[in-house]
Amino acid sequence: MTVPPPIVAPSILAADFARLAEEVRAVEDAADWLHVDVMDNHFVPNLTIGLPVVQSLRAVTAMPFDVHLMIEDPRRWAPGYADAGAYNVTFHAEASDDPVALAKDLRSAGAKAGLAIDRDTPIEPYLDLLPSFDTLLIMTIKAGFGGQRFIPQLLEKVRTARQHVSAGHLELRIEVDGGIAADTIEQAAAAGADAFVAGTAVYGAADPAEAVRHLRALAERAAPGA
Ligand code: DX5
Ligand code: ZN
Repeated sequence: MTVPPPIVAPSILAADFARLAEEVRAVEDAADWLHVDVMDNHFVPNLTIGLPVVQSLRAVTAMPFDVHLMIEDPRRWAPGYADAGAYNVTFHAEASDDPVALAKDLRSAGAKAGLAIDRDTPIEPYLDLLPSFDTLLIMTIKAGFGGQRFIPQLLEKVRTARQHVSAGHLELRIEVDGGIAADTIEQAAAAGADAFVAGTAVYGAADPAEAVRHLRALAERAAPGA
């Protein structure tokens, strides 16, 4: 089983929102993607940031943006993030009645398309849809808040997805999000994840760039076949 080199995506949800540009620059050279958590106080109870913040950030860094939409009605809002220059736009399976159609919209707007699976959602009904996607985000917590404890049982979904991706020779990143830190990233990598979101573990560290490098090294070592 070959898994591509790992992507580490710091989540700015754990950054200081009053100094966002500086916080982005702190990880710019070390990280692969910048993970942006958009929450609408409807799909999840929390409320974070939206399109104007993404547009402003786009002007201050060349980092690829990995936008994670935890919102209702993604068909209405998601393409705007692609137009704003997001590299990857991920929306939730639970919020969409036609995920494949929205994936097409995102790709024609020039972005990668991502499908997110929340804690209580099984992966099996979505496996056949994966050829329409570039990223599969498997939550390792219940979506909505940073700083929660990683749920190792959810890695079963990562194993299932990795087998499916390998067997079908799909080009798809398998991303994990929630509670990823130095003490959890290796099990996620061993299960077959190849993109790792980390909020608290990066922005809670004294040296965020160093934290990213350390996470990547751990993920590389634990990857299947490494
Ligand atoms: C939560 C968000 C996560 C969050 C992760 O719903 O999707 O991206 O920022 O935060 P940590 O790494 O602190 O669990
Ligand atoms: Zn996220």
